[in-house]
Amino acid sequence: AHTPVVDVLKGQHAVGDTVLVKGWVRTRRDSKAGLSFINLHDGSCFDPVQVIALNTLNNYDDILKLTAGCSVSITGTVKESEGQGQALEIEAQDVEILGWVENPDTYPMAAKRHSIEYLREHAHLRPRTNVIGAVTRVRHCLSAAIHRFFHEQGYYWISTPIMTASDTEGAGEMFRVSTLDMANLPLDDKGHVDYSEDFFGKETFLTVSGQLNVETFACAMSKVYTFGPTFRAENSNTSRHLAEFWMIEPEVAFADLNDVAGLAEELLKYVFKAVLEERRDDMEFFAKRINKEAISRLEKVVEQDFVHMDYTDAIEILKNSGKKFEFPVEWGVDLSSEHERYLAEEHVGAPIIMKNYPKDIKAFYMRINDDEKTVAAMDVLAPGIGEIIGGSQREERLDVFDRRLDEMGLNREDYAWYRDLRRYGTVPHSGFGLGFERLVAYVTGMQNVRDVIPFPRTPGNAQY
Ligand code: 4AD
Ligand code: MG
Repeated sequence: AHTPVVDVLKGQHAVGDTVLVKGWVRTRRDSKAGLSFINLHDGSCFDPVQVIALNTLNNYDDILKLTAGCSVSITGTVKESEGQGQALEIEAQDVEILGWVENPDTYPMAAKRHSIEYLREHAHLRPRTNVIGAVTRVRHCLSAAIHRFFHEQGYYWISTPIMTASDTEGAGEMFRVSTLDMANLPLDDKGHVDYSEDFFGKETFLTVSGQLNVETFACAMSKVYTFGPTFRAENSNTSRHLAEFWMIEPEVAFADLNDVAGLAEELLKYVFKAVLEERRDDMEFFAKRINKEAISRLEKVVEQDFVHMDYTDAIEILKNSGKKFEFPVEWGVDLSSEHERYLAEEHVGAPIIMKNYPKDIKAFYMRINDDEKTVAAMDVLAPGIGEIIGGSQREERLDVFDRRLDEMGLNREDYAWYRDLRRYGTVPHSGFGLGFERLVAYVTGMQNVRDVIPFPRTPGNAQY
């Protein structure tokens, strides 16, 4: 088997050893002394390895035609590098060219840097860039750390369904799933689409959240979480919304709002530490190119306690800030991203756990507080991005829950299975949803969630 570039650079092979490496040319330059320097990357770490090809190689003429993007298989000797940069390099004994770039002018990677918007439209090019490579490794590291955290804490991972008839957030922003013939829809006597003829016999959607499902498992297995894709047809063309995003949703029985606020803080600190330890190379790139504070702010965050704040107090702070916000502030309004960012960035300068929102701006399942006006909800607001977590204590009292459904004009029958959970051995329970792309954007300092997911889905964009 061949050796990953990361193993060569980390000195897993002694100087003088012969190694076989495979990858893509990032850059190549020639020296007058009759040698060519190839920077070879294979995705295994941030840095490429430098390969020296001497003009004594039998295919040297071809080597001189290698351009960015060509794929090669190289056998060579590990050497101490005389140049700056890496300590180790490879002197080639054999350079096999696997794939040419058919027209270097149409593979615009070379020295020039490309806008992140340009890259979104070039599926074959995007993952080969420094920035998307770094994002991809950090994303992987975060995902592995999240699973490790929950495993170590005794949580079970529950896969919740992607196709479902229930609307968890009650916001109606769902993608419909159907096998009906769109050109010839069956209608009932009122002229509405007759979904009884559809595959599931019912109107069905892509899930917006696994929460309602995972609650049933929390109320049996005690500590559980989901980690999967979720879908929202909200037509918001912003830098923090995707139509398809991944969410991590822990759900804990016998836990109240403060318990899961503590869990959120522990989880975030754990994964930040993992990235700082395991992906130093990529984080240094983000600190150099994307956000100067990419490393220092994470180091600070893992050391300090998160600030807890009540929604009602936040409204007072915003009112007294002397700032002119696009959306005016008064008790009862939902916090806009502008408000969230002011609080997290300027007022506190660290992540905030915002709690106890007015019930009218929150979902039907949240537990009503004693004041009857607010619910036991929490959002985690991070500097630079705003809300990264939304969660709550769930309403476990059937009579209170039914009153809330009535108040909101929701149908008890549609929530029959969810109501059953409150009829048979109900317990206090709480949970939250962490938006994975918002987390990756926060950690890397990337400005737009579209650039931290391999294939972004946004209004008008689902080509590849
Ligand atoms: O606040 P949300 O809507 O909460 C829920 O879905 C709850 N059912 C979670 C729970 O309590 N189990 O979404 C949770 C998080 C947000 O804080 C945000 O980080 C992310 O999901 N999110 C999005 N990320 C990218 N694009 C979108 N369109 C998003 N909508 C929500
Ligand atoms: Mg929310």
